[in-house]
Amino acid sequence: MAQANPHPAVSADGCWHNLRLAPQLYVSEVADIPEGTLACIVVQQGRMVWVGPQDAMPAQYQALPRHDGAGRLVTPGLIDCHTHLVYGGERANEFAMRLAGASYEEVARAGGGIVSSVRATREASEDELVALALPRLEQLLAEGVTAIEIKSGYGLALEHERKQLRAARRLGELCAVTVRTTFLGAHALPPEYAGRSQEYTDLVCQVMLPALAAEGLIDAVDVFCERIAFSLAETEQVFEAAKALGLPVKLHAEQLSNMEGAALAARYGALSCDHIEHLSEHGIAEMKKAGTVAVLLPGAFYTLRDTKVPPIEELRAAKVPMAVSTDHNPGTSPCLSLLLMANMACTLFRLTVPEALAGITRHAAQALGLQDEQGLIAVGRPANFVLWPVQQAAELAYWFGSKPDCTVVRQGLIAQQAKA
Ligand code: NIG
Ligand code: FE
Repeated sequence: MAQANPHPAVSADGCWHNLRLAPQLYVSEVADIPEGTLACIVVQQGRMVWVGPQDAMPAQYQALPRHDGAGRLVTPGLIDCHTHLVYGGERANEFAMRLAGASYEEVARAGGGIVSSVRATREASEDELVALALPRLEQLLAEGVTAIEIKSGYGLALEHERKQLRAARRLGELCAVTVRTTFLGAHALPPEYAGRSQEYTDLVCQVMLPALAAEGLIDAVDVFCERIAFSLAETEQVFEAAKALGLPVKLHAEQLSNMEGAALAARYGALSCDHIEHLSEHGIAEMKKAGTVAVLLPGAFYTLRDTKVPPIEELRAAKVPMAVSTDHNPGTSPCLSLLLMANMACTLFRLTVPEALAGITRHAAQALGLQDEQGLIAVGRPANFVLWPVQQAAELAYWFGSKPDCTVVRQGLIAQQAKA
């Protein structure tokens, strides 16, 4: 049975002082804090109760236990808002196929792709899935992640989707991290339904979704709307079923082509539309109206050697919030570093550093409906923050391939202490 590395449940309560707050990611009790001013965060019973310049900290907190930040930069805990973390097997062979010239669609049509992960996931037990996913999760957590979304979608049958979602929930119990589960039963057509897409969509809507929702396993519902996956009409059918159950939706939208999926998702009040390389102006306008977050996934873009960049300038002009995520999955983004994704969102998609940092904190929280709890350092929220060994916020997106020695406060506990 999988066991998390025993992390001592050390309370983070007390006064965290000598901190430098990363700009735009906090709300201070005493106006804005000029950059470079030392600040403190007071934590009581696992929640932040005061945030501000340290020379303005009320006397009542003076006697609390002290945690010296030694001038380190602090951000909210990072949020990975789009992952397929729970699966069996790996797909390094497809990496080789694509290097030899095959496209993602060709690999999928040749029986590889998502369906090959479905085979391996179906063969694995729930315990095995937890054991496989745990070290992946631990790598993300070591880099300051305090909330993560985990999708199903490699089971594609009731019992196997259940197994994936239960494994995801168990990961949240093993490691004090917020896990949001997303049901992605409409990820690919399982081989036994070849040529019977409508029948499979009916099964998703009428059997799988209601059963798994009743078991409390679903926080949101997603669909892969694409030529090689589900049509716009099938997507809408799944959204209707989610709506009937009161579940929020999100969408793998316009990754390989423009299906106008984003506009549809926005009409259903989607939390987010993800990938969106081929997003249209109409899609942007509908997302803006609905307050839907645009989730950028540079890992998949990079792996597939895509050349169509998401319409960043248009999203920026429309003030659609942009999030950035790993999209961790065994096919198109076997990536376990959210900071690397922030770097690639800047380099490949031309995000500014503040946009990239909002993308892995504030906006990622919004993409999960967690904006009142996570993604921002502010009074009243659970203590989730990270102390980084850097001088300036830009360094978080600048370095790549390194694992920063950070202190992580997660759910009011000191989950990781920096070595130096
Ligand atoms: O987000 N685009 C569809 N789904 C995944 C890829 C899944 C896979 O290839 O296994 C994604 O990139
Ligand atoms: Fe994905």
